[in-house]
Amino acid sequence: MSDWQPKQYLKFKNERTQPTIDLAGRIDIADPKRIIDIGCGPGNSTEILRRRWPGAEIIGLDNSANMLEKAAADHPDIKWILMDASSDLSSLGEFDVVFSNAVLQWIPNHEELIPKLYRLLSQGGVLAVQAPYIKELPVYSDIIRTAGSSKWSVYFRQIPEFPKHCSLKHYYDIVCDLTENLAVWQTDYIHVMNSHADIVEWYKGTGLRPFLDMLPGESEKREFTLDYVNSLSESYPAEKNGKILLPFRRVFFLAYR
Ligand SMILES: C[S@@+](CC[C@H](N)C(=O)[O-])C[C@H]1O[C@@H](n2cnc3c(N)ncnc32)[C@H](O)[C@@H]1O
Repeated sequence: MSDWQPKQYLKFKNERTQPTIDLAGRIDIADPKRIIDIGCGPGNSTEILRRRWPGAEIIGLDNSANMLEKAAADHPDIKWILMDASSDLSSLGEFDVVFSNAVLQWIPNHEELIPKLYRLLSQGGVLAVQAPYIKELPVYSDIIRTAGSSKWSVYFRQIPEFPKHCSLKHYYDIVCDLTENLAVWQTDYIHVMNSHADIVEWYKGTGLRPFLDMLPGESEKREFTLDYVNSLSESYPAEKNGKILLPFRRVFFLAYR
């Protein structure tokens, strides 16, 4: 898959960072000494962790060189590590908070990954995760519909495996084998968008990328995007002030050790 583009991703920085604020706000640990932000991206989630726990040692880890370059430029005081989250992270030591916002949907085999992340915790530490669940929402299902149309299906014989769509039950079933001290919840964030094209701008920064990667040239990417916008216009009627309300469901869990 093509590398992440921090500029595109951060066009909606506030919307993308709100779940981190909400997740960090629910963590019941007053004074963690070591924190790791798994899939830190351009550092927007790490920045929130730094603000909440200014005295802690914080590491941001990501496997995108582009994202880490932006993170390091904006926050030279934080330690950034280029690494795959599914590799063996035990050499990094123990953490009081293992945090991951909007990342797990990009990584396979949660049945192995989540226990592995949990084992990085010190006693009393917490694994704190948020991941979107939008399989049935038009922002995602309209891409599948467009890709499956007779015009485009030749390029999409196989639907990209990522982003994964995992329900709250999926995460609960894994986490309940690790600890009884846990919390799970989900929230529908409603983003107020200026236009249907803005929804594409939003999703171009994340889940639309694997689909655009499958198209051969710029003209196909442009035309596919236009067809997707048209489909979105039917799925999300404009409000009386012309704005579009975009619901986006996110699943959260906290697992204390
Ligand atoms: C949607 S961004 C989330 C960025 C940030 N955490 C936030 O809250 O906005 C997903 C990030 O996960 C990273 N990522 C995806 N798969 C990864 C993996 N296997 N190991 C490490 N990072 C990964 C991507 O490079 C990207 O920066």
